[in-house]
Amino acid sequence: MSKVTVVGAGNVGATCANVLAHKDIVKEVVLLDIKGDLARGKALDSWQQAPIDYYSTSLKGTEDYKDTANSDIVVITAGIPRKPGMSRDDLISTNAKIVNIVTKSILEHSPNPIIIVVSNPLDVMTYAAHKGSGLSDKRVFGMAGILDTARYRAFLATALNVSPKDIQAVLMGGHGDTMVPLPRYTTVAGIPVTEMIDDESLNAIVERTKKGGGELVKLMGTSAWYAPGAAAAQMVEAIVKDENRIFPCCVKLNGEYGLEDIFLGVPVKLGQNGIEEVLELKLDEEEMTLLNTSAGHVKSVMSVYDNMQA
Ligand code: NAI
Ligand code: 2OP
Repeated sequence: MSKVTVVGAGNVGATCANVLAHKDIVKEVVLLDIKGDLARGKALDSWQQAPIDYYSTSLKGTEDYKDTANSDIVVITAGIPRKPGMSRDDLISTNAKIVNIVTKSILEHSPNPIIIVVSNPLDVMTYAAHKGSGLSDKRVFGMAGILDTARYRAFLATALNVSPKDIQAVLMGGHGDTMVPLPRYTTVAGIPVTEMIDDESLNAIVERTKKGGGELVKLMGTSAWYAPGAAAAQMVEAIVKDENRIFPCCVKLNGEYGLEDIFLGVPVKLGQNGIEEVLELKLDEEEMTLLNTSAGHVKSVMSVYDNMQA
């Protein structure tokens, strides 16, 4: 049974740890935060939920990286979230320092973990963790696509008055307003979504999805956590159970979609080795143009990160 560390015991990290505990698929979840008491408190609270919700996953809160030793999987959620009026990219200078320290500290105690990055700006923080860790491309990747696709699926479920379980979809690109939901690859229980909804309503849902994170920041004064935490836990589950689930994840591209030296959201197969395969969809010209625009934006923020390190 696996050991999972979640770094950052804030809204997203604590939710991820709690959802993971409920799945009862790993032996131990370590919740680490610079605020050690916060991590200890949230871990203890989650453990006290175990007799109610029937799980055996043990939870430990800490600020000491020694407690993370020999983790199989590490989820990095440490960093500041955005406030109203901020973009994810505005977080880069603070969060890059945090992600770099966290990555280095983790590797001192776990030599070859799979790292799932959640901190924003997501694509560039994944790049930072990959670069700082020296781990294989298959073992460092980011969570955004499951969340963004879930938002798209939820909006469609509401509009069509169907269960969200029956909406299947793919979304690609960076975790920002240039993300690329793909109606051509969206079905409702196998029926092409375009047969179920008119173009104008579908376009409105695509546009709402792209700004889905910002909508929640406006409502709550900080960014979302239930769906993000659950999305990260779902990635852990696919790895622990070696499920080969197909999810959009932020990965290093090495020529796929004509792109390289970039971290971007694309559909992958997720299993026990991390990224088992990057799937290459046959995008049409318009979809490819949108993906290239998104890639251009991510590349520009990657350059900001590189210049900060120089
Ligand atoms: P939060 O403020 O609730 O929690 C962040 C936690 O990180 C705090 O408890 C803080 O003490 C901790 N922290 C800061 N520096 C640390 C360090 N050096 N070592 C260990 N812990 C440290 O923030 P929230 O809402 O949990 O968001 C966390 C990050 O996730 C943000 O950057 C946010 O933008 C991002 N996010 C990404 C999503 C995605 O789809 N990829 C979705 C939602 C949030
Ligand atoms: C979200 O999309 C802010 O990335 C965060 O909710």
